[in-house]
Order: sequence, then structure tokens, then C-alpha cells
Amino acid sequence: MEEKRILVTGAGGFIGSHLAKKLYEDGHFVRAADIKWDGYFEEPYYSEKLTLDLRDYKNCLEATKDIDYVYHLAADMGGIGYITKVGADVMHNSGLMNINMLQACVENKVDRFFFSSSACVYPEFKQLDEEVTPLKEEDAIPAQPDSYYGWEKLYMEKMCEAYKKDYGLAVRIARYHNIFGPYGTYKRGKEKAPAALCRKVAEASNPGEIIIWGDGKQTRSFLYIDDCVRGTIMLMESDYDQPLNIGSDRLVTIDELADIIIKISGKEITKKYDLTAPQGVRGRNADLTLVKKVLGWEPKVSLEEGLEKTYRWIESMVMKDKEKR
Ligand SMILES: NC(=O)c1ccc[n+]([C@@H]2O[C@H](COP(=O)([O-])OP(=O)(O)OC[C@H]3O[C@@H](n4cnc5c(N)ncnc54)[C@H](O)[C@@H]3O)[C@@H](O)[C@H]2O)c1
Repeated sequence: MEEKRILVTGAGGFIGSHLAKKLYEDGHFVRAADIKWDGYFEEPYYSEKLTLDLRDYKNCLEATKDIDYVYHLAADMGGIGYITKVGADVMHNSGLMNINMLQACVENKVDRFFFSSSACVYPEFKQLDEEVTPLKEEDAIPAQPDSYYGWEKLYMEKMCEAYKKDYGLAVRIARYHNIFGPYGTYKRGKEKAPAALCRKVAEASNPGEIIIWGDGKQTRSFLYIDDCVRGTIMLMESDYDQPLNIGSDRLVTIDELADIIIKISGKEITKKYDLTAPQGVRGRNADLTLVKKVLGWEPKVSLEEGLEKTYRWIESMVMKDKEKR
């Protein structure tokens, strides 16, 4: 592959750090930009590091200077607890970053722009049942996302389309569905279900108990980070410029997800349920027909295999956290 000058925004976070690492290992010049650094990867995984607030247009200009490809992953986001509670800040912070990044890409004549959209753009009325019909890309409109986070993503998808039409910017848009894996947020309220459950199980005594949010019967599909990174790069390298699902179509209940993690831990754990906790839509699954056809991509890592790696990493972090106390 020809060496490129690549900017990854959100490179201090979960998906951005894995993506930057892969692009750097593939021999590209990688500029990593973020407002903060989780620091879970010890080795350098970028050519250059910029600590910037990307809500500021000047910083977006600095980040995109002399860059061929932009992977824009920076966002104000979190798991179901966070995006249920926070609306204004999510829309304000991500909105400013998105608006300014697109404009800076045009100003600095960037060749290609990738946007990390989300399964949260899909309408609530198509996700009312556990036995949900997998969501196809065309299902997003007419729109009724169940969160402000989803509305903001949808607005940005449309803005990418407008920048493509009016300024000729080459855009690529992935709709990620529940990405999980090691080296991501696992505590302090922004973590998503797989990481939260791994942390709860790792922290529990043996025998012990964990609290599941909701009745455990809500359903989702989960994609391992390595598959996500591979699909992201394939999409960026392709000619496809419409939104595309990157997810898994293996539907599981949150109960089943917890059971797999408990089995991996080897602990004897009882599950309790908090019916007052946020749980999002009742069911959500990804239809992969289009992504298979367009990219020839599909997930390779099983849920069990991915969770084994994720659990072991979170378990080690929980142990380190305990030692620090
Ligand atoms: N993880 C998932 O399951 C999932 C699902 C759908 C979509 N996405 C999208 O993928 C992208 C990456 O998600 P993630 O899971 O890695 O999240 P993350 O929170 O780990 O990473 C996002 C990064 O953006 C950075 N950021 C926030 N505000 C910033 C600012 N003002 N300036 C500069 N950087 C800022 C954060 O510091 C963080 O490191 C996001 O756009 C997210 O909405 C993720």
C-alpha cells in the first residue's frame, strides 16, 4: 500500500487508538489528535501526537495540515448510561468538532474523509422487540433515533453528503454497531455494556453477584475491535461513499453476554437486575448484506474469543486499580 499522511482524531480513545496503531504498523505517517490520552497502549502508535481541542476551528486546521486522509473518530460519547443522560453536551461538543473538521478538510484540501457514525441513527420504531429485524442502511430514513447522540450522528451524515456535493470532498461513512475489545473505557460511566460487565465480573468476589441494567432480555450484536479496524480501513480504501454498517449480525441478549463473561472468569456469579437503569432500545441488530457485497467484509472474531481477550485485559486493569488504592 502506498504510504499516506493520515490524521486520526480521537486517537487517544478506544477505536481511534487501535486504528492509529494499525495504520502506523502498516507504514503510514500517522498524526494522532485528541484532547486527552487514555494511555492504555504503552508503545508509541503514531508518528506525531497533537493534544488539541477539536471543537476549535484553528485546531482542526492545524490537525489537517498536509494530510491526505482523515479518520475522524473524536466525539463526545459513552455507553447507554451516558447517552441517555447527556444530550446538550453531546450535540454541542461533537457538533462543533464535526462542523469544524469538515470545513478544515476542504480548506486544507484533504483527499478523503472518514466519519464514524453509529447504529444509534436507526429509528426507535424499528427496534421495539427483542427479536428485532436486522437494520439495513436504508432503514435510517424516515428518522427517529432514540437519543440526541443518534440525531447528532445523522445530522453529520447529511453534512458529509452536502460537503461531497458542494465541495467534492470524498467521504466514507461507517455506522458502527457496539464495538468492544481491550484498551478501551471500562470505568467512570462512559463505558459500554461489554466493558461494564467485564469490570463488574472482575470486581465481584467468588462466589459473588453482579447487577445487570434492565431485565437482561434486551438484545444487541457486538463486534470485536480488530474486525472493526479492518472494516474501517477497507471502507476508506473503497469507492463506496454512502453510510455502511460495520457490525455483527449475531444477536444476543444482555443476559447471554453476561453469561459468556461469567464463564470466561471461572467465577460463580449470581445476576441481579436493576429495572430502573437505562437500557436503550429493546433490540438492535445489524444487517450485513450491503457491507458484504460492497467490501467483501464480514466479522472473523467470535464473541467468545473477543470477550476472552477483553475480560483478561479488564481483569488486569481492575487488579492494578486495586493495588493503587
Ligand atoms: N465504541 C462503539 O461501540 C461505537 C459505536 C458507534 C459509533 N462509535 C463512534 O466511534 C468513534 C470512536 O468511539 P470510541 O468508542 O473510540 O470512543 P472514545 O470515547 O474512546 O473515543 C473518542 C475520543 O474523542 C476524544 N474527544 C472528545 N472530545 C474531544 C475534543 N473536544 N477534542 C479532541 N478530542 C476529543 C475523546 O477524548 C476520546 O479519546 C466515536 O465517534 C463514536 O461515536 C463508537
